[in-house]
Amino acid sequence: KILILDFGSQVAQLIARRVREAHVYCELHPYDMPIADIRAFAPKAIILSGGPNSVYESEYLADPALFDLGVPVLGICYGMQWMAQSLGGKVDAGHMREFGYAEIRARGHSKLLEGLQDRANDAGHGLLDVWMSHGDKVVALPDGFKVIAETPSCPIAGMADEARHFYGVQFHPEVTHTRRGTEMIHRFVLHIAGAQPSWTMPNYIDEAVKKIRAQVGSEEVILGLSGGVDSSVAAALIHRAIGDQLTCVFVDHGLLRLNEGQMVMDMFAKNLGVKVIQVDASTAFMGKLAGETDPEKKRKIIGAEFVEVFQDESKKLTNARWLAQGTIYPDVIESAGAKTKKAHTIKSHHNVGGLPETLNLKLLEPLRELFKDEVRQLGIELGLPHDMVYRHPFPGPGLGVRILGEVKMEFADLLRRADAIFIEELRNTIDPASGKTWYDLTSQAFAVFLPVKSVGVMGDGRTYDYVVALRAVVTSDFMTAHWAELPYSLLGRVSNRIINEVRGINRVVYDVSGKPPATIEWE
Ligand code: XMP
Repeated sequence: KILILDFGSQVAQLIARRVREAHVYCELHPYDMPIADIRAFAPKAIILSGGPNSVYESEYLADPALFDLGVPVLGICYGMQWMAQSLGGKVDAGHMREFGYAEIRARGHSKLLEGLQDRANDAGHGLLDVWMSHGDKVVALPDGFKVIAETPSCPIAGMADEARHFYGVQFHPEVTHTRRGTEMIHRFVLHIAGAQPSWTMPNYIDEAVKKIRAQVGSEEVILGLSGGVDSSVAAALIHRAIGDQLTCVFVDHGLLRLNEGQMVMDMFAKNLGVKVIQVDASTAFMGKLAGETDPEKKRKIIGAEFVEVFQDESKKLTNARWLAQGTIYPDVIESAGAKTKKAHTIKSHHNVGGLPETLNLKLLEPLRELFKDEVRQLGIELGLPHDMVYRHPFPGPGLGVRILGEVKMEFADLLRRADAIFIEELRNTIDPASGKTWYDLTSQAFAVFLPVKSVGVMGDGRTYDYVVALRAVVTSDFMTAHWAELPYSLLGRVSNRIINEVRGINRVVYDVSGKPPATIEWE
């Protein structure tokens, strides 16, 4: 396995993704991981991430004893600078920031870059397109190092000590803008470090099943099933490991999508034989939400009521000792990083978190090590249907944040039907250019209920009904997003169908706001 030390990079997760794509297991830890822990982790190699800081700021320094472990080290950007400084080289504050594409020339022979090139210059030297983002730079090599890449403004864009297997690159191989970047990381991990490419889903299932059985023994486990990808895959995996020792609790807060309850019950209870308790709590949720129009208060109410209902149900399962959760690796990294990176609460997210303290149960989180795409692969491997595994995300508070203002069952019912039509049309419409459906081309799409009435005409009569907004976005991380450029013909079809089929809605609009400044959800 590979250890990645995170110096506060925005893209450290991408390094981990690239390593995992080589089928090698890796973990991301903060830069100040104690050397004793690093030794105990026994990495096959270490990768030092980039970071926003300067090596002069002493607080962002790792323990240089890691260079004595006898394992290969790859430093990226700040990681390279810290490596250079720690081993006796020199780093200078750059007077010019370099940001964006750069063309580097590979120099000499190095196991990292040899033979890799996007094109050659007249002299036959390999040239590579890379992504650079830095101010400081290495100006003097430590002993034993040679230059392996240069640009006109950065004469030491890459360095290597091949005897000790230490490599540094000033550019970012983990981002796709560096076209050969994935190959560089795979070379480092597989050829230079000699890691075995044994991290595959079937192997992972075997190991995870063994681990869950060893952890849980003969005790019982409860899991809050939401119908989302993470909790569903966690349920399928745990069920594979311990069968009937798992009981899922599926809380229907009345704010789910059309037929969602039925779909979850069919998939888990009927097809997979998982024990699922379905709790219809819609009346209780609606009661609590009555009269409330403030978005944050609505979120809090839904979150608190969810905990309440879940807790009541789990108390009935007197033998349960474990609470299973679909926590995935980005959640783990985020909460670990939250202490160093300041975050501003735009919306209070509601997840199943916060339950364990009150329930007195031990936590079982079998997806803690997986990225989202790995969770999806795992779901497919465990036999979950493709449509479920590749579903768009759905927020915990459900339609509660898509019905603006006060939530009423009447509104939820209208919205459910409009939303289902939108999703059906997205799934059924193929974009000829890519051959993909518009559902797959968008990252998230849904309808929003606007509690305002407008005048319309239908047949010979006047209507005075509600408005629905359609929202569809394209994003890779949900932190920023573009509104999707859906074809007019598709939007027209969706609008016609909603207005004709959903009595109570006579107007459909399309949301053309990006994030930022808008958010994806309307509340
Ligand atoms: P925003 O609206 O903040 O949404 O741009 C970003 C992503 O987060 C989802 N979202 C939530 N997910 N609980 C969740 O599990 C929540 O409370 C919640 N609020 C927003 C949203 O659907 C989008 O994918």
